[in-house]
Amino acid sequence: MKQPKSIYACQHCGAQASKWLGRCPDCGAWNSYVEERATPAQAHGRAAAPLGGHAARPYADVETVVADRQTTGISEFDRVLGGGLVPGSLVLLGGEPGIGKSTLLLQAAAYFANTTGPVLYCSGEESEHQIKLRGERLGLQPARLYLLAETSVERLVEEVERLRPALLIVDSIQTVFSLKLQSAPGSVSQVRQAATDLLFTAKGRNLPTLIAGHVTKDGSLAGPKVLEHVVDTVLYFEGGPQHSHRVVRAVKNRFGAVSELGVFEMTGTGLRPVPNASALFLAERPKNVPGSAVLCTIEGSRPILVEVQALVGSSTFGNARRTASGLDPNRLSLLLAVMDKRAGLSLASDEVFVNVAGGMTVDEPAADLAIVAAVASSLRNRPIAPDVVVFGEVGLAGEVRATPQGALRLREASQLGFRRCVMPAASVAPGDVPSGLTITGVSTVGEALDALL
Ligand code: TYD
Ligand code: MG
Repeated sequence: MKQPKSIYACQHCGAQASKWLGRCPDCGAWNSYVEERATPAQAHGRAAAPLGGHAARPYADVETVVADRQTTGISEFDRVLGGGLVPGSLVLLGGEPGIGKSTLLLQAAAYFANTTGPVLYCSGEESEHQIKLRGERLGLQPARLYLLAETSVERLVEEVERLRPALLIVDSIQTVFSLKLQSAPGSVSQVRQAATDLLFTAKGRNLPTLIAGHVTKDGSLAGPKVLEHVVDTVLYFEGGPQHSHRVVRAVKNRFGAVSELGVFEMTGTGLRPVPNASALFLAERPKNVPGSAVLCTIEGSRPILVEVQALVGSSTFGNARRTASGLDPNRLSLLLAVMDKRAGLSLASDEVFVNVAGGMTVDEPAADLAIVAAVASSLRNRPIAPDVVVFGEVGLAGEVRATPQGALRLREASQLGFRRCVMPAASVAPGDVPSGLTITGVSTVGEALDALL
C-alpha cells in the first residue's frame, strides 16, 4: 500500500520541507517543524473560483462598488475597522487569552442581530450555554442570534448556507479544522485551510466575517503568520488583563487606515467604548513629581495624551540597568546616549527605568522629547509643570526635529486643559495654535530642557 505523503511545516511561518529541520531556513525559528499530512490536490484545484471565476475584464468595465459600511454598534470598534464593517470582509481579531475577544465579538453580534439581520456565532471553545451565560451577564437580548458549538469548517459552511446570516463570527480560528487535512486543529496547515475556506464563504456570499485568533506569549498570532495574508483586516488587543482598559489596534486594513486605535474599558457588563482616551490615560497622573512628562502622541488619526514616567537611580553594581516598558528599549539607549553626549547629562553609571503609564505602547519618534524630558526631570529631581505637554523627535546630534500633525496634537492638549507646549520649532505654525495655549518652539535638546526644568 502506498504510504500517505507527509510534509514538515514550520509552525511559526508556515514554510514547508520534505524533511524535518531543526531550524527554519525562512524565519530562523528553532524546533518549529511538525510533521503534517500533505494537502490533497483537489483542495488546491478550486482555489480561484469564488473571487470571480470568469475571464479577465478591462479596468473600465469593472463597476464601482461603494461599500456601505455596517456599524457594529460599538463606536470604538467601528473606528478601528475604519468606520464599520465592510460587507464580504474577513476580519481577524487577535489577542491573549482572557483579554476580551469573545466579549467584544458577542456584543457586536448582538447589536448586529437586532439591527441588520441574523448572526451566526460559531464557537469551538465554549458551549452554547456558556455563551448564553455571558450574553446574560452582558445584558444582551439579541433577537436573531444563532449559536453553534462546532469545530468542523465544513459543518460551519453548511450552516451558513442554511441560515444565510448577515454576519458570521468564528471563535477561535485555532479550534476550527477542515476534514480535508489530517493534521491537528491549530496547526499551520489547518489554520490556513480553515481561514481560506472562510475567505471563500465571505467573498462568495458577501458575508462579513469576524474571526478571533489567539496570540502566543511572544506576541505573534499562534502559528499562522500566514493568516495575516489571507484576511482583509488584522486587529490586535493590547494592554493586559491587569489593566481595566483595553486597546484594539489595526495593524493591517484593506479598507481603512492602519494603526487606528480603539479604546475600551472592561466593566462588569462587558467592554465599554472610551471616546476620551486621553482623560483615561492621565487619570492617575501624579502632579509635581519629578520624572513625569505628558506626551501627545498620534495613533492612526487620533491624538492621545499619555504620561511618560522615568526613574533614575545610581547603580550599586558596575553594570547599570536600562529598562523600558511601552517603548522600544533600543530607542531609550539611543536617547540616553544623546543626552550624555549632547546635553551634558551624565547617565553612564545610573540605572534608568522608563514606563508609559497605563499600559499604552508608543512607537512614534515624536515620543523622544517626552522620554528625554522625563529622564532629565528625574535625574535633576525637578518636576515638570503639570500643565505642560511635550512632543518632538530627537536626532543623534541632539537636535529636535519636526513632527507631523502638530495642529491635531495641540488641539487635544488644549481640550484637556494644558496651558503650555514644548515642541519642535520647525513644526510651529502660528495659525494652528488654539487660544489659551502657549507654544515654546525648541531646536535642541538643551533648549527643551531649559524650557521645561
Ligand atoms: P473573554 O472575552 O472571554 O476573553 P477571550 O475571548 O479573549 O479569551 O474575556 C474574559 C475576561 O473578561 C474574563 O477574565 C472576565 C472579563 N469580563 C469582565 O470583566 N466583564 C464582563 O462583562 C465579561 C463578559 C468578562
Ligand atoms: Mg474567548
